[in-house]
Amino acid sequence: MSTAPSFRIGALAFPSPVVLAPLAGYSDLPFRNLIRDRGGLGLAFSEMIRPGGLLLGREKKKQWILATGPEDQPLGWQIYGKDPPLMADAARWLQDHGARLIDLNMGCPQKKISFRGAGAGLLKTPDLAVEIAERVIKAVTVPVTAKIRLGWDDHTLIGQDLARRLAEAGISALTVHGRTAVQSFGGQADWTAIAAIAATIPGIPVIGNGDISTPETAVMRLATSGCAAIMIGRGAMRNPWLIRDITQAIAGRPPFPKPGKAEILTLTLHHFDRHSELYGPEKGGILFRKWIPLYLRPLLKMERPAMVKLLTIPGPRELRDALASLPV
Ligand SMILES: Cc1cc2nc3c(=O)[nH]c(=O)nc-3n(C[C@H](O)[C@H](O)[C@H](O)COP(=O)(O)O)c2cc1C
Repeated sequence: MSTAPSFRIGALAFPSPVVLAPLAGYSDLPFRNLIRDRGGLGLAFSEMIRPGGLLLGREKKKQWILATGPEDQPLGWQIYGKDPPLMADAARWLQDHGARLIDLNMGCPQKKISFRGAGAGLLKTPDLAVEIAERVIKAVTVPVTAKIRLGWDDHTLIGQDLARRLAEAGISALTVHGRTAVQSFGGQADWTAIAAIAATIPGIPVIGNGDISTPETAVMRLATSGCAAIMIGRGAMRNPWLIRDITQAIAGRPPFPKPGKAEILTLTLHHFDRHSELYGPEKGGILFRKWIPLYLRPLLKMERPAMVKLLTIPGPRELRDALASLPV
């Protein structure tokens, strides 16, 4: 039986070249473990974390965003910001609290982040991006990685140049989402541009990212981009079996049977319960609503009014009961 090729970042070795993306509001402990339980995952990333709140203990969401466990490995912790000393302090704090890999967000296009110079805003200030990488790398002993986009917009495609400079600064791997910041999620990820960046820094593993939602696409992207690994975001949010299925295909093994309706509903309820455990029954129930259309809309082909009715059930217990009694 063949196996998927492993990939490495520094001294860390991962069993599969398939990576779960950092997903603010989604890639929390319950979801990471849900994906891990299905199998085939090489590495997962946390949601992006704001260093100020982390270090000052003011982040209300802190206990949730930092939640992890022994089973939740391999895991990279992602931080965002534009202040090099603060980013370095945050990375050291995370390392002191068990982090084995630190990732620097240089790609978030959200206005409240990028317009203030952090996330993808750093694509407009590459000197600062490199300074952050240098300061963080100096502050910790664990590998430091960065996640970028192709540039701020079509006129400032600095991806290759920034990749080379970040590699010189000492990053251990680079994730490239094949869009510009201005594109946000529009258009299609440009995998030719991702491949060009991978070719620019041959000594550094590049994780290619963007629009992979089937095992066939994943196999093709890995084979043709020169990337050491591929990262999956929205595809895994809609289909938590996708990463398992991709690893299976990369290894050349026969596909698993497609999960049936009952299996999808069981997974939804399991995720609901893990969510409630972490966030508490009240908040967990409210926060879980965002997952319901992702998992169940394609399954149930539910009309909008029926979905709205489900999503507006007030109590968590009642919501769970309604989910459990869906006709599948
Ligand atoms: C809901 C959501 C939250 C995201 N949060 C983050 C984040 O915290 N950090 C980050 O670097 N990228 C974040 N991204 C971008 C993803 O990591 C990924 O680069 C993007 O979704 C493209 O990959 P995909 O086509 O496989 O979804 C987020 C994307 C989505 C849809």
